[in-house]
Amino acid sequence: MRQTPVENLTEAEATEELTRLADELAAHDLHYHREDAPVISDADYDALKQRNSAVEARFPALVRDNSPSQRVGAAASEQFSAVEHGTPMLSLDNAFSDDEAREFDARVRRFLGLGDEAVAYTAEPKIDGLSASLRYEKGVLVRGATRGDGRVGEDVTENLRTLSEIPHRLKGSGWPDIIEVRGEVYLGHEDFAALNRSAAEAGQKLYANPRNAAAGSLRQIDPKITAQRPLRFFAYAWGLTSAPFAQGQAQALRALADWGFVTNPQTQSVVGAEGLLAAYSDFEGLRPKLKFDIDGVVYKVDRLDWQQRLGFVSRSPRWAVARKFPAQQARTVLEAIDLQVGRTGAVTPVGRLRPVTVGGVVVTNATLHNGDEIERKDLRIGDTVIVQRAGDVIPQIVGVVLEERSGNSLPYIFPSVCPCALATPLVRETTVSGAETVVRRCSGEMTCPFQRTEHLIHFVSRRAFDIEGLGEKQLQSLFEDGLVREPADIFLLEERDKTLLKKLKDREGMGETSARNLFEAINARRIISLERLIFSLGVRHVGEQTGRTLAKGYGTWDAFWTSVQAMASGDESAAAEMNAMDQIGPTVIETLTRYFAESHNRAAVERLVAQLTVLEAEKPKTDTAFAGKTIVFTGSLEKMTRDEAKAQAESLGAKVASSVSKKTDLVVAGPGAGSKLKTATDLGIQVMTEDEWLALVRD
Ligand code: IVH
Repeated sequence: MRQTPVENLTEAEATEELTRLADELAAHDLHYHREDAPVISDADYDALKQRNSAVEARFPALVRDNSPSQRVGAAASEQFSAVEHGTPMLSLDNAFSDDEAREFDARVRRFLGLGDEAVAYTAEPKIDGLSASLRYEKGVLVRGATRGDGRVGEDVTENLRTLSEIPHRLKGSGWPDIIEVRGEVYLGHEDFAALNRSAAEAGQKLYANPRNAAAGSLRQIDPKITAQRPLRFFAYAWGLTSAPFAQGQAQALRALADWGFVTNPQTQSVVGAEGLLAAYSDFEGLRPKLKFDIDGVVYKVDRLDWQQRLGFVSRSPRWAVARKFPAQQARTVLEAIDLQVGRTGAVTPVGRLRPVTVGGVVVTNATLHNGDEIERKDLRIGDTVIVQRAGDVIPQIVGVVLEERSGNSLPYIFPSVCPCALATPLVRETTVSGAETVVRRCSGEMTCPFQRTEHLIHFVSRRAFDIEGLGEKQLQSLFEDGLVREPADIFLLEERDKTLLKKLKDREGMGETSARNLFEAINARRIISLERLIFSLGVRHVGEQTGRTLAKGYGTWDAFWTSVQAMASGDESAAAEMNAMDQIGPTVIETLTRYFAESHNRAAVERLVAQLTVLEAEKPKTDTAFAGKTIVFTGSLEKMTRDEAKAQAESLGAKVASSVSKKTDLVVAGPGAGSKLKTATDLGIQVMTEDEWLALVRD
């Protein structure tokens, strides 16, 4: 967008522009604060705000009563009741460069008339979440609120109470009778990714970033939902207090920590402008290592009496500033949408982007999750989009810049066939209850070249056959050249290599030593445990744990093989035998039956097993008093860990369950046992102490 430089604007143009900016910023504030779903990047938002301030600075007479420069956030929504903060929750001015940071220090010294005297500051990570204010009266949490418009926030007391890092009662002593403790509610990267993963699986709307996810999670009508979200809290400020409790910011943070809050351990105390700059570069280095998002550093004058003297200008304190990191978001063009086919045929759309640097890293791809997500965001090929990186989370597309959309673009239509050469139809999955899910799957199974290569990649992976030196690229090229089409081929590679004109060592990225090492690595895996072998087959729903259970249940490859073949030919007693195994249910049985009903799968497995020596699994003991019994451990165990207890019980042929039901045979209860013990007594199940259990087991 070309803009008239501010100095060339006429008064009439400026009036018009300020109106437009006020509307635009108000709309963005709503998207951001009320809906937790921004439609433009933070950097673009900041640019609009800066433009607004620049125009106002040139035409002070045009400053509107409702100017965006006078507002913080959006008014509280009607869902929660309104609470007026004891003192307003302000926002911070931004500094975007070293020069602006130096200027902040110079301004502080000028204002206080300090001459050359250096100022001590705290430099705190600027956590990217949403701020909350917690009111404590006589040490007891009485109210918790969001910032809202800075003066009036939303009452989210019950939701905030569910956070484990928010004390319901202050610890220690020295807290004022009334204090509003302020800080940031946020979500860590892993928890954010997990939240979005389950939302994607459930076909729900995804959150754009951890901050929006935190805001959305906190502002749930039902606190029980908030309680399920792993929200965290850092305390870093305070509002109204009935008495002073510290002389400096660093000291105040220590007091907050003593009272039971989590304060940011990375906070530094620094001196002078050079100290501010050094802290910034420390935090830049730290940023990628942190498990949560930070979007800058907050500098605060340490001395509280100086803070008092400095006071506020408009809605921000003069004694603090936020030094922002370069945007982790950027605009680019969505050039294509490709489909990736996973091992089990699940198709994931991936956005191919015109390369763009986001927070120092060149981004070319972004995950689009599934077809519904593309539809919801109405992403079209050729669109200008906002991409975002957050820590080590895969880049995401936040949204489309609609103003840049070309008039003749068309909505994306999800292909109905697999992108492989065979173009097998994609099917939409249904759940057990028959509902359609958002996942589309290629129905080609082992005929689909994509699924076959993914399958091979799984086969050699660390938790499966763990063949070192056979990477994704190598496998792909061996597959394309027809040298490795199925797992058995891997074990035939050395033999076949002898007759090849172009030997393995002559392939790109190989060489004599690598080829020799690879053959060694392959041969080392000819002896394999039954559980690994079953897991390596890559049958859907048969993960490591199921592999282990099946291996234990059948003991030998022959027993497993005979049984699955029987199942595949419709033998119900074989299926019933498998069903009787702990934790094996109809889904696993159905997928195994279907898998082994395919003659090409059976043949491939036979070819593989012919290359291997499969070790027998340790069969559970059947001659102990506990064989086949279901045991529940509850309360705290004092002589052994839970894992030990479980392993011991299992070695005696027992099953260990986590909840008590009619099927439970024995409950071992330690101190503090609660509802499980009660259920056991109600159901008349045998209960014993840890000591009694140990005495029995040692017999
Ligand atoms: S102090 C009057 N300290 O940044 C100053 N804010 O842009 C009150 N933030 O609303 C804020 N980390 O949501 C402060 N260590 C920190 C912070 C922090 C994150 C957020 C907070 C605030 C916003 C200002």
